[in-house]
Amino acid sequence: RKDLLDIQSLTDEELDFILTNAVPFKNLFKRSVKKVPTLRGRTVLTLFYEPSTRTRSSFEVAASRLSADVVNFSVSTSSVVKGESVLDTISTLEAMRTDYVVVRHSNSGIPNLIAKNTTASVINAGDGFHAHPTQALLDVFTLKEVFGGDVRGARIAFIGDIQHSRVARSTNLLCRRMGMHTAMLAPSSLIPRDLPQDIAVFGSWAELYAWKPDVIYLLRVQMERQNVPFFPSLGEYHRQFGMTDDRLARVRDAGVWVMHPGPVNRGVELTDNVMTYERCLIDQQVENGIAVRMSVLYWLKPGSATEEAVV
Ligand code: CP
Repeated sequence: RKDLLDIQSLTDEELDFILTNAVPFKNLFKRSVKKVPTLRGRTVLTLFYEPSTRTRSSFEVAASRLSADVVNFSVSTSSVVKGESVLDTISTLEAMRTDYVVVRHSNSGIPNLIAKNTTASVINAGDGFHAHPTQALLDVFTLKEVFGGDVRGARIAFIGDIQHSRVARSTNLLCRRMGMHTAMLAPSSLIPRDLPQDIAVFGSWAELYAWKPDVIYLLRVQMERQNVPFFPSLGEYHRQFGMTDDRLARVRDAGVWVMHPGPVNRGVELTDNVMTYERCLIDQQVENGIAVRMSVLYWLKPGSATEEAVV
C-alpha cells in the first residue's frame, strides 16, 4: 500500500495492523523511550493548506519519534501565494525525494490527486468535507481502550455540524465497520442527504437520551464552511444542541463518554465543565493521535512487512 486517503480503502487486515501496532508505540512513551530508529533516513513533509494544531503537530512528533526528518512546508510563506498550483508544488517537492507527504486541503479529493502524481506515500490529513482517516483511526483506538478492546455493540452519537464534518464521515464509517451502533443529532440544515438509510437521526436531546448512547461525539461548528448564516445564531445552537451544564449532569449520571476532535468552541458545542468531566476523552484522543500516526507511518514504510518488529 502506498497511500492512506480514506477509511473505505483500508482492508480489515490493514486496519488491524495499524490499530494493533499503535499499542506498542504508545507503550514506548510510558517507558519514557523518546525515539526509535524505524524511519531513520526517511523524510516526512507536512503540507497544510488549511490551519491545524493537533494533526500537524502530532504527525511531526510521530515522525520525529520514528527518527524521520520532518520538513514543514509553510503554505503561507511559499510560492503557493504567488499562484503555484498544487501539482507544480508537488513536482518541485518530488525532486527533493520526499518519502511521505502529509496533506490537508479545503478541497475534497486533493490528496488523491497528489497521490496519483507522486511516488511518495500520501497521507490525507483532512480534505474538505470528505475524509480525515487518521482522526477516525485515533478515535477508534481510543474507543477500544475505553471499552476493553472490543467496541462491538457500543452506541455512539455524533452531535452538531455533520454536513461539513470530514471527522463525522470518517469516524462514523469506521465505528460502523467496527460493529458499533451510530446515530446523529443536529439541526436539519446540518444533516447531509447522503447518510446511510439505517442510521438513527434525532432532532432533540430528549430523543438522544432515549437512545441511551454510551459515547457522545461533539463536532466542531465549522464557521469557515458555512455559506449561509449559521443556525440562526451560535447562542441558539448552544441552547438547542450544545452540551450545557444541565445536559452534562444527565450525561454524567448515565456514565456516558464524551469525545471531540478539537479545536473546541467553548460556549458553543460545550461548556467549560465538559473539558474537566472525568469521562471526557479529548486529551486521550490527542495523546493517542501520536501513537496511531506513528503506526500509520510505519505501515506505509516502503518494504515494511507485518511480521517486522516495531522496535
Ligand atoms: N482534529 C483536528 O483535525 O484538529 P486540527 O484541525 O487542530 O488538526
